[in-house]
Amino acid sequence: MSIRVEPLELPLSTDENSRRGDEFRKTVRLIDASNSALLGSGNQSVTPATVLSALQGQASERVESISAYRDEALVGHAEFFLPTSESTDIVDTLLLVHPDVQGRARQETFEALVQASLDRAGQLGRTTIFGGGVGVREGDITATTGYGGVMRDDPESVAWIRRGASLSQVYRYSRLDLDSLTDIDTRLGQAEQRSDGYRVVTWEGETPASYRADMRTLHERMSTDSPTGDLELEPETWSDERLAEFERFKIGSERRMFAAAVQHEESGQLVGYSQLVIAGDPCARQHNLIVLREHRGHGLGQLLKLAGIAQLRDNVPHADRITTMNAEENRHMIRVNEAVGFEVVTWTVVWQLRLDVESQVSGGTT
Ligand SMILES: CC(C)(COP(=O)(O)OP(=O)(O)OC[C@H]1O[C@@H](n2cnc3c(N)ncnc32)[C@H](O)[C@@H]1OP(=O)(O)O)[C@@H](O)C(=O)NCCC(=O)NCCS
Repeated sequence: MSIRVEPLELPLSTDENSRRGDEFRKTVRLIDASNSALLGSGNQSVTPATVLSALQGQASERVESISAYRDEALVGHAEFFLPTSESTDIVDTLLLVHPDVQGRARQETFEALVQASLDRAGQLGRTTIFGGGVGVREGDITATTGYGGVMRDDPESVAWIRRGASLSQVYRYSRLDLDSLTDIDTRLGQAEQRSDGYRVVTWEGETPASYRADMRTLHERMSTDSPTGDLELEPETWSDERLAEFERFKIGSERRMFAAAVQHEESGQLVGYSQLVIAGDPCARQHNLIVLREHRGHGLGQLLKLAGIAQLRDNVPHADRITTMNAEENRHMIRVNEAVGFEVVTWTVVWQLRLDVESQVSGGTT
């Protein structure tokens, strides 16, 4: 195979005048081109600043990245996410191949990236690896959840299947065009009337001190209550430092983060929240949305969604769309999103592979 894989060395700044600075900027262009081809133009744009900050990692999750070259041309990029607090047996991977690389070359590049992921997981002593691919509503292989699938000939999936991975989940990626939502205030008013006993609170940026304990609980519940199929993920624990680091990261690199929460009037507790993140481009991304189990069934998910959209409209005039990812089996969340007007763009999959001793030692064959 004529693909060479090597670690991506990060520059100190996005405009660093060096070979590693040049390779980094090429990588940013590759990520942007790949996102555009997979997820739709302008839906998942990146900037050098957002990529550099993401690749630097956080205390709760280290990140390593590699580059794949054919001759001297950069053809692929991979990111390995290594949780440090829980799920420490896992390597979660993001593998990208430039959309211009097609046919056999595309397959070979994915094979090299998948193999490099397995090799690195083995070196780190991590025993479970997650991978991706292009999904479909119904495919040749159905996810173990029973919702969504994959076509056998998707090049990324071919490389995971060959190594014995199982298809754990399929996620739908959908988008809401804000211009199409002309009656937001009426709908928000109706949702507020349906949720007697609760009120909406909103803020931008860091969570105010009085809400931080509740927000830690809500983040912890996101890790246990959003569907994760048979993925070997452990419940997360959120200290105040973790919350602070997460928020610093999300509002760094010229991004803005908006939160809408619902407060239970009787107890004062925050029982649900929704977050939207936006940079200089017009696409806001849904981060989390949850309602605590004890408070479901009052339409609070819909209320949060609409309150978040109104907050975005009022604060970010250049926003024209919101994108979101939902597990295909998460019918409750999808129902809320569809009612607001989100439409499917595409699906992505999650493969899970438990590494055996042989694949760690031999590096496998293709
Ligand atoms: C998505 C979510 C916010 C919807 O909650 P909600 O706004 O309270 O839902 P609704 O008020 O529309 O509930 C309608 C019915 O579905 C039920 N329901 C809602 N979510 C449910 C869930 N996750 N599991 C089982 N039943 C659920 C409600 O209890 C209610 O039942 P009822 O009619 O018998 O009273 C909630 O399911 C949730 O927080 N899920 C976990 C977090 C998550 O998956 N987030 C998205 C990650 S991408």
